[in-house]
Amino acid sequence: MCGIVGILGLEPVAERLVEALKRLEYRGYDSAGVATLEDGGIVRRRAEGKLKNLDARLRAEPLGGTIGIGHTRWATHGAPTERNAHPHATEKVAVVHNGIIENFRDLRRELEAAGHVFLTETDTEIVAHLVTDEMNKGKAPVEAVAAALPRLRGAFALAFLFAGEPDLMIGARRGSPLAIGYGDGEMYVGSDALALAPFTSRITYLEDGDWAIITHRGAEIRDAAGHKVARAQITSSASSFLVDKGNHRHFMAKEIHEQPEVVGHTLAHYLDMANDRVRLPALPFDIASLKHVAMSACGTAFYAGLIGKYWMERFARVPVEIDIASEFRYREAPLAPGGLAVFVSQSGETADTLASLRYAAQHGQHVLGIVNVPTSTIARESHAIMPTLAGPEIGVASTKAFTCQLGVLACLAVAVGRARGTLSEADEQRLVGALVAAPGLMAEALKLEPKIEVLARTLAKDKDVLYLGRGTSYPLALEGALKLKEISYIHAEGYAAGELKHGPIALIDETMPVIVIAPHDRVFEKTASNMQEVAARGGRIILFTDARGAEEAGVKTEATFVLPDMPATITPFAYAVLVQLLAYHTAVVMGTDVDQPRNLAKSVTVE
Ligand code: F6R
Repeated sequence: MCGIVGILGLEPVAERLVEALKRLEYRGYDSAGVATLEDGGIVRRRAEGKLKNLDARLRAEPLGGTIGIGHTRWATHGAPTERNAHPHATEKVAVVHNGIIENFRDLRRELEAAGHVFLTETDTEIVAHLVTDEMNKGKAPVEAVAAALPRLRGAFALAFLFAGEPDLMIGARRGSPLAIGYGDGEMYVGSDALALAPFTSRITYLEDGDWAIITHRGAEIRDAAGHKVARAQITSSASSFLVDKGNHRHFMAKEIHEQPEVVGHTLAHYLDMANDRVRLPALPFDIASLKHVAMSACGTAFYAGLIGKYWMERFARVPVEIDIASEFRYREAPLAPGGLAVFVSQSGETADTLASLRYAAQHGQHVLGIVNVPTSTIARESHAIMPTLAGPEIGVASTKAFTCQLGVLACLAVAVGRARGTLSEADEQRLVGALVAAPGLMAEALKLEPKIEVLARTLAKDKDVLYLGRGTSYPLALEGALKLKEISYIHAEGYAAGELKHGPIALIDETMPVIVIAPHDRVFEKTASNMQEVAARGGRIILFTDARGAEEAGVKTEATFVLPDMPATITPFAYAVLVQLLAYHTAVVMGTDVDQPRNLAKSVTVE
């Protein structure tokens, strides 16, 4: 989280820094700032809140200078105030930072003892002082940074600006991503290629531990040991146009509505639709001999993985262990060599997922990344990737990336099942036939939007909501609850329906809305019994089902939403649309900031 950018320009840079920051706002949006050099001296403008506040500040108090750095923040250390906003600076150095400096307290104590005065609660401020301290000892900027970097523990991407140095910027990367952009007589740094797209498509991604000395003529890249290294320059395909909302009020609404198209696009990438076969890209491991799969991801991507586990175990009869990445990375899971480890991530930058990936790679696993950003760190460090073709997802709450992840996971499960002989050719054709129908059924789900809007007006008055589901509807219950809480701030919990009587049933009374996701599948009857238990205690049942389910539910519901009958394999695609729409419209009724909910960021690059 946090987005950083830097420009060594030929023209004034402040406005362009803000333009680039707007493209990084998905990384954090609680405060922002820029620093440039005016007459060799560091000058800054910072503002609490979203970038428009910084924009206004710069209009009132413009900044000159043809070299500068900028930052949009997601607070880790210190409240999101103007004082804690980046860039942090001394008279000699300004710095912007994405990540966490874990040993900042020790360093701060040491620097305070040496007479440095700190003005903020941030971990970042110590970086400016540490480099200043080295410069006070007589070191030039490059040597000062070289001395300071090894003292920092944690994950970071940094960009430095130095007083009196209009032709020097230093960028450094450990953990968090950083790209260098090459222009005509200008140079750039940024958290990703998207930020730099209006300026250049010629990009070099720094590798972990790299740092770069950048002037208007180019960049000299050094590795962690200080040796000069060559890193490839690529042509980025990131679009220079800011994605817009089309006719929708929010990006989230647009992204929900795009799903039939992007899921169709993703499936088309992995399916031979003419022959109802799965067609995976060449993979550097043999899926026929897989004995074990480990999966790891965070949040919504984790729930996609959980549905993938149900499919993989059912179709391919391969045991799948799935973990939340922040747990997997530390639990020292024993992994038999030669297993497959799958990492699911929209951004491809999630710190915990990346750390899990590295653990798996170190323990002899084949590493497969399912990512939406093919230039991301997870994509680059995976042995193979299966991209989701969702297109840029701007709304912080993941929607279309989730259903595209489902598309990829379903194709993978069917392909492994075929390769292992647990699925026959006829099974494959039947399953592919079902998958091909998924986008159309998602479009059917979208038609229920007006009715969902009505329900949202009631739900917006509630304080707590329970979601229940069984089988692949269980992860959807978790996802529905996550979506609702993150954008409407209503407390919601997802449960496996069978768990109801092991505790949560105590919550049921006539005020508690219980959203039951229950297509008429092979576990429907079991879920119907759970609905009876809720009804017997006066709970308010809201049922997402199909015609048969509605008929056989046997309980009085507050509202029933009926989707067409569909093969069990594709219910998660269509029912996901319903839980997304419900969360979206509830948030709209509540008047929250749907696309940028409080305290969240799109790309979670700190653990
Ligand atoms: C919820 C949401 C998050 C992300 C999670 C993982 O709507 O978007 O839970 O799914 O932060 O992010 P990625 O997929 O980028 O690894």
